[in-house]
Amino acid sequence: MKAIVAVDEKWGIGKNNDLLFSIPEDMKFFRQTTLNKVVVMGSNTLKSFPNGAPLKNRINIVLSTTVNRDDCIVVRSLEELKSKIKEYDKSQVFLIGGAKLYGTMIDYCDEAYITKVKADGNAQVFFPNLDQKEGWEMVSESEEKISNELKFAFTTYKNNNTKNL
Ligand SMILES: NC(=O)c1ccc[n+]([C@@H]2O[C@H](COP(=O)([O-])OP(=O)(O)OC[C@H]3O[C@@H](n4cnc5c(N)ncnc54)[C@H](OP(=O)(O)O)[C@@H]3O)[C@@H](O)[C@H]2O)c1
Repeated sequence: MKAIVAVDEKWGIGKNNDLLFSIPEDMKFFRQTTLNKVVVMGSNTLKSFPNGAPLKNRINIVLSTTVNRDDCIVVRSLEELKSKIKEYDKSQVFLIGGAKLYGTMIDYCDEAYITKVKADGNAQVFFPNLDQKEGWEMVSESEEKISNELKFAFTTYKNNNTKNL
């Protein structure tokens, strides 16, 4: 499984159940990377999407004790989530948030696509700081890009200590 996320310079990812920034090139990267794949999320992330609807053209797996929907796969516990993920080829599965799910599942990811925005988004919720997390190392970083006066770069981190589901 791979994680995909956009973080600010403090590893912040969201506030008021929304994203910190709107960067079209990053949205395009997210869409292209996850299209026709399996996306795994918590219920707050599902609720943050337009109309609270799952992402089109992807298999959506949502961890929640409260959500009831028949247009996505809802699992009720971490154990149920892990066994559901195991039904798929792990290279096809993307952990897409939010903070709670990233915190719980990051150790099971072998790679993370981190879009790093060089600004402080005054976040309320955060991604684990992979620069300080044992086993993780950055293996690639794009040149710096600019969108709407925001500087950002696409990076990839690798986990040398991936846990089995
Ligand atoms: N920057 C990015 O790339 C990015 C990506 C995704 C999300 N985000 C942001 O992250 C924020 C949302 O993150 P979040 O931490 O609040 O929410 P979240 O991780 O999306 O969802 C948390 C919810 O998942 C369910 N859950 C979590 N662990 C569970 C467990 N062990 N068993 C059963 N259910 C469990 C619970 O839902 P129930 O209460 O329904 O049981 C819990 O309230 C938003 O601001 C969003 O915009 C940012």
